[in-house]
Amino acid sequence: KTIESLGDLKGKRVLVRSDFNVPLDADKNITDDGRIQAALPTLRTLLDAGAKVVVVAHLGRPKGEVNPDYSLAPVATRLAEVAGVSVTLAEDTVGESAKAAVAAMGEGEIVLLENVRFNAAETSKDDAEREAFAAELAALADVFVSDGFGVVHRKQASVYDVAKILPSAAGLLVLKEIESLGRAITDPERPYTVVLGGSKVSDKLGVIANLLSKADRLIVGGGMAYTFLVAQGHEVGTSLLEADQVETVKGYIATAKDNGVELLLPVDTVVAPYFGADAPATVVASSAIPADQMGLDIGPQTRTIFADAIADSKTVVWNGPVGVFEFEAFAEGTKAVAKAISESDAFSVIGGGDSAAAVRTLGFDESTFSHISTGGGASLELLEGKVLPGIAVLEG
Ligand code: 3PG
Repeated sequence: KTIESLGDLKGKRVLVRSDFNVPLDADKNITDDGRIQAALPTLRTLLDAGAKVVVVAHLGRPKGEVNPDYSLAPVATRLAEVAGVSVTLAEDTVGESAKAAVAAMGEGEIVLLENVRFNAAETSKDDAEREAFAAELAALADVFVSDGFGVVHRKQASVYDVAKILPSAAGLLVLKEIESLGRAITDPERPYTVVLGGSKVSDKLGVIANLLSKADRLIVGGGMAYTFLVAQGHEVGTSLLEADQVETVKGYIATAKDNGVELLLPVDTVVAPYFGADAPATVVASSAIPADQMGLDIGPQTRTIFADAIADSKTVVWNGPVGVFEFEAFAEGTKAVAKAISESDAFSVIGGGDSAAAVRTLGFDESTFSHISTGGGASLELLEGKVLPGIAVLEG
């Protein structure tokens, strides 16, 4: 259901679930406001329609307790700047402050409720507890718009239960995400290449398993590549390794072979004696990583192999950086992957908070990618082929 299905919204209170879980530095400055920018089309549509927009969102995982470190105050300030309207931050989520702010608001204004995860019921496993809290949220509005794509894989009160109480619709961001990721997942133009990186194999087991019957080519880099290298019989020094996943990965390597999926792993690696921005970097063959060194990026030969594979693809999905791109000395691999995707004519989807942040912080033009997803876990679960509760509830 789309926003139009909710009818005339003039003067109506619209509760919008957004994903404003943005990275903050130690001084509480937002270091990447991609998720705030991505929320604007829906918010503008609602404001232009004369709605009173009440936004509910979370920041981090404050474990059900009020904690000023996780306040949405920096988000309220940035949202006001980028949306160009006044944003009132309520001091609580469903309490007196929230009720008063909503009662006082005018058409075309935004009230941002304080971090919904300050309330333990939001993430409770107990259905009744969540439903009771969702009813309090619902009492603040007339209709609900679900637009926090990054959180639609969570069965939480402000994502799932509230949609069962109020007339509900998917926001523009959620629609765009589902359409773009769906195009890559269900009907990819081939060759279909998936690039996986990031630190942990265990985060991506479901994705890999699902892709072994769908993708033509699987490229693995980042911290998770070392578990693959060990599964192939190599030593990886002090690199990240998930020893308990080696057997599973061996199974994946065999399945890839059986299914004719081309599996590309780093053939050379940039290593250093320790993890740090100033660590001295050397390039070695991936089959000869010294015992006292750790791999922190893919090497130059691998960059070329990965880039060529990407150039030869019609659909590319990328999730997770292939090196420690936050450190300049180990950013070349991730830059090379981003560059190859941005220069290719393939339909490209960048999924996962880290790769999306990499694309932006490394200075790539966002318009050269077909779609940059705002979802981390949510986009991974879609790639796994899972049904996401926050989407299913809108369809039901
Ligand atoms: C994210 O950052 O991926 C989303 O905001 C979801 O956050 P969560 O993993 O804490 O539920």
